Amino acid sequence: MQTASELPRPLRRPRRLRRNQTIRSMLRETRLTPDRLVLPLFIIDGDNRSEAITSMPGHARESIDNVIKRCREARSLGVNAFALFPAIDPALKSPEAQEAVNPENLLCRAVRAIKECIADAYLVTDIALDPYSSMGHDGLVSPSGEILNDETVDILAQMGVLHAKCGADMVAPSDMMDGRIGAIRAALDSAGSTDTAILSYTAKYASAFYGPFREALDSAPVHADNIPGDKKTYQMDPANAREATIEAILDVAEGADILMVKPALPYLDIIGRLRRETDLPVAAYHVSGEYAMVKAAAKMGWLDERACMTESLTGIARAGADTIFTYAAMEYARWYGDSHS
Ligand code: PBG
Repeated sequence: MQTASELPRPLRRPRRLRRNQTIRSMLRETRLTPDRLVLPLFIIDGDNRSEAITSMPGHARESIDNVIKRCREARSLGVNAFALFPAIDPALKSPEAQEAVNPENLLCRAVRAIKECIADAYLVTDIALDPYSSMGHDGLVSPSGEILNDETVDILAQMGVLHAKCGADMVAPSDMMDGRIGAIRAALDSAGSTDTAILSYTAKYASAFYGPFREALDSAPVHADNIPGDKKTYQMDPANAREATIEAILDVAEGADILMVKPALPYLDIIGRLRRETDLPVAAYHVSGEYAMVKAAAKMGWLDERACMTESLTGIARAGADTIFTYAAMEYARWYGDSHS
């Protein structure tokens, strides 16, 4: 066997370009600035309330006044876009999820209040029935336990119009019903909200990584009688990639402004796929379970939180995400500020 010193000397030595911080920084391909992040926030009714979410350290369900403080803090760090999720009082949840279209519901009040205090906070609202449904499903459930598509889409379109009227800059349907992007776009346009953008959850998978989020909203699907205990008849099968292309083609045709992949890390190939297959901006949702994993391991002393969170978010951006929804937005913005001051 030849030893390394007997082999021909390599002509190309990629290590030349890794020799010191200056050259590494000069050639870095991906730079993730905090202005590309969207911070999800959980809202509850009341004044000056904050309820910790145990599986999401650093996040809480907060009343509108405290959410406004959070937005101010995030903006001071360079994060100016927020995805709002209301934790609806269980007494207001119903099988038909009527609270979703109540103009005085928690989400509507939150959007108006935030816009009143911080006019240029960029607000993204979630369109789906699960926070309002006593069954925890994103759509209406028929007596035989089917998640009804077209009937749900009618309500989603009404929600979109309502959110836009309250001041939402962007509506984000996370429900995975067929045809909802076209229906929401048409409803927004006929209501005069032509400037309200639609971020479609294009490839949203039936993932087990949503666990902490469902704890935060107490929105896990209820498994009883005929009601399915999972979302597999509408969210995508984690094993499928080509199906993401089909969803993307439909969303583009129906008028989506941004296509999202969710979750992010187990689906980097899907992010890359949509990046190559469309010229629309691609978003990724670094979901609650992805955040919780790093937080929990860091708490045990098993992982370095800053390094692992930064590597996760950089990897998602490298795969092709223009914007990332992440619960770590504020931490990341602080670390970014520390290393760039
Ligand atoms: C539901 C919705 C979910 C998330 C965002 N919107 C959960 C679900 O589909 O059950 C999950 C986000 C996260 O885990 O961070 N419309």
